[in-house]
Amino acid sequence: MKVPNRIGRYYVENELGNGSFGTVYKAFDPRTKRVVAIKVLRESLHEFRDRDEIEEDHTRFKTEWEAVGKLRHPNIVIVHDVGEYEGGPFMVMEYVPGEDLKRVFKKGKRLPIRKSLRIMDQLLAALEHSHKNDVVHRDIKPSNIILSSNENLTNEHITVIDFGIARLPESTLTKDGRAPGTPAYMSPEQLNSRRDLDGRTDIFSAGVIFYELLTGAHPFGPVADDGYVHRVLNDVPTPPSKKAGAVPSAFDSVSLKALARDRKDRYATAGEFAQALRTLAPAHDCADFEGEESDDHEIPSPQRAWPQSVDVYICIGIIFLIIGYCMAYWMI
Ligand SMILES: Nc1ncnc2c1ncn2[C@@H]1O[C@H](COP(=O)(O)OP(=O)(O)OP(=O)(O)O)[C@@H](O)[C@H]1O
Ligand SMILES: [Mg+2]
Repeated sequence: MKVPNRIGRYYVENELGNGSFGTVYKAFDPRTKRVVAIKVLRESLHEFRDRDEIEEDHTRFKTEWEAVGKLRHPNIVIVHDVGEYEGGPFMVMEYVPGEDLKRVFKKGKRLPIRKSLRIMDQLLAALEHSHKNDVVHRDIKPSNIILSSNENLTNEHITVIDFGIARLPESTLTKDGRAPGTPAYMSPEQLNSRRDLDGRTDIFSAGVIFYELLTGAHPFGPVADDGYVHRVLNDVPTPPSKKAGAVPSAFDSVSLKALARDRKDRYATAGEFAQALRTLAPAHDCADFEGEESDDHEIPSPQRAWPQSVDVYICIGIIFLIIGYCMAYWMI
């Protein structure tokens, strides 16, 4: 699709990507002089709707986005504005530089466990805040988590995006009744199309991400095969410590509790999940994960060439001293 020059008052620079709900553009706001990201909802979401129903959907999206816009948290994207472009709603948010976690996962290297725990801590803090403000994300997945590193590349910061996007009215289900998007991070109750979703659906999705961070594998994978949904609805995943080497077994119970099939058996709040992880962290320094750090995140430690050279020079000096002493003794 052609990249528009302008969306409302915003000058579009380039397309950042597109997902199941729409396209995201990087743009410039001449009024505030800031760079923003604009998500425009896909037209095909309205395929089977009449005009009144579409308008009703737009109102619902805008109401939801306005609620998200009231959230103020360091790990939640700031929503600046909502508007309408060519008959469809769009959302203007802060532009977050960095790389989404989906791309990080695609590189195939597991992150060190301490870094994974810091990511989880921030993700759960964002969820705790939004749930306390009655906003359920509904679409927590790696592509909706942007990882930005600071200058010395040690203290990564995450920003959760796409709050409220997945508040799909029934209308936007596809012809065969499925919601657009991947079910890979959906909770059992979401897969069962329950309408009374609460914060625990996000806790399940965060649990899937935690499992992937620990093991590099999906707890119910492979996602693409026919039995996937059946496994989410019926199976208990293999404990992470049995799935991948170097995962301390103490992480198993926390991981499996977040992934419990029945939401009553999960952590009741994101704060409880975060607390459980925090109590594990100091007990497991997890140095055994360090070898799997991707080289683009860690600063290499400086070469220890100087002390080694000193040792060599001292040895050579001692040898010369001994030779000199022997020669002097022989000559006398
Ligand atoms: N506020 C933002 N700042 C910077 N990049 C963003 C922002 N919002 C989205 N992106 C990027 O735009 C791309 C497309 O995002 P989009 O949400 O459309 O896709 P998705 O998350 O893969 O799918 P879905 O529609 O199911 O959420 C992603 O790479 C995402 O990281
Ligand atoms: Mg997204």
